[in-house]
Amino acid sequence: MSGMNRKAAGMLCAEALEARKNAYAPYSRFAVGAALLCADGTVYTGCNIENASYGVSNCAERTAFYKAVSDGKREFRAIAIAGGPSDHDPENGDGLEPCPPCGICRQVMREFCSDDFCVILAGSADAYTEHRLAELLPMSFGPESLHGRT
Ligand code: THU
Repeated sequence: MSGMNRKAAGMLCAEALEARKNAYAPYSRFAVGAALLCADGTVYTGCNIENASYGVSNCAERTAFYKAVSDGKREFRAIAIAGGPSDHDPENGDGLEPCPPCGICRQVMREFCSDDFCVILAGSADAYTEHRLAELLPMSFGPESLHGRT
């Protein structure tokens, strides 16, 4: 999908902002929420989950993907991401700065999504930017790179 209509994108941003409230981020104090739209219309949300052993921490995007994949979902249209300092409440004034997905999460998207998968960086429910996965992860290595097929 190369773009979403405003209403659908805004709703996905709102779900990411809501999921951000569950972030467990006592070490970075940076709270992230994500809302992943499946091809069948269902939405899976996720938040970042940190650990005292820092490297064990999981990003919001991967939480959402792994919840969906473990429920049998394999086709995805879009993800909205909302991240910022834990003490920044976007309902209480300014929106969040855009929070681009990390490299590991981009690679997880690459496993399951097409080039035109839509990545929405949410500042608020009505302020966001849209990007295509191919733009965020050019010249990527994916399933078909392994054996020339998917
Ligand atoms: N984080 C995410 O959950 N998603 C992103 O897109 C960027 C970073 C998390 C990981 C860590 O818990 C915290 O934000 C600071 O890096």
